[in-house]
Amino acid sequence: MDNHSIALVDHCRIIDLPRIRHNGGTITFAQNDPNALFDIKRVYYLYDIPGDSERGGHSHRDIQVIIMAVSGCFDVTVNDGHNTRTFTLNRPYRGLYIPGGIWRHLDNFSSGSVCLVLASEKYDEADYVRDYDQFLELSKNKVSL
Ligand code: TYD
Repeated sequence: MDNHSIALVDHCRIIDLPRIRHNGGTITFAQNDPNALFDIKRVYYLYDIPGDSERGGHSHRDIQVIIMAVSGCFDVTVNDGHNTRTFTLNRPYRGLYIPGGIWRHLDNFSSGSVCLVLASEKYDEADYVRDYDQFLELSKNKVSL
C-alpha cells in the first residue's frame, strides 16, 4: 500500500510565533527547539504572486509545513479527503501548521503578499501527491489519530 500520513483537517492549526517589539520594528523568529512541532530542514517563500494565482493543489505524504503570510494576506484551504477548512493568513507572526496527508490550496493573494513556508524535510518530489483522485484513494481509510 502506498504510504500517506493519516491526518485530518482538525490537525491543522494556527501557530503564533514569538514577537519582540522594538520602537524600530518587530522581530519574529522560528528555531529548532524541543517544543517545536518539527525540526526545520527547509525554508522557501513565494513572492511576485499575481492576484489571481492559485498555488498548492497537492498533498505531501510525510512533509509537515508551517505556512505564513509574512507580508499581505491569502487563504489556505486544507482538505483531508472528507472535510475542508479555509484559513485566512494575514499576520506576519501567524502560521498555519499542516501535517502530511493533507491536500492544500492557496488563493486570494493580496498585492505584494509573501508566503513563507517552514518545512520538515528538504525538497523531495517523491513526497508529493499531485493527483487529486490518487489523494482521495489514499485518504479513503482515514481514522482519527
Ligand atoms: P510546488 O511545491 O508545486 O509549488 P506550490 O505548492 O507553491 O504551488 O513547487 C513548484 C515547483 O518548484 C516544482 O517544480 C518544484 C519546485 N520546487 C523546488 O524545486 N524546491 C522547493 O523547495 C519547492 C517548494 C518547489
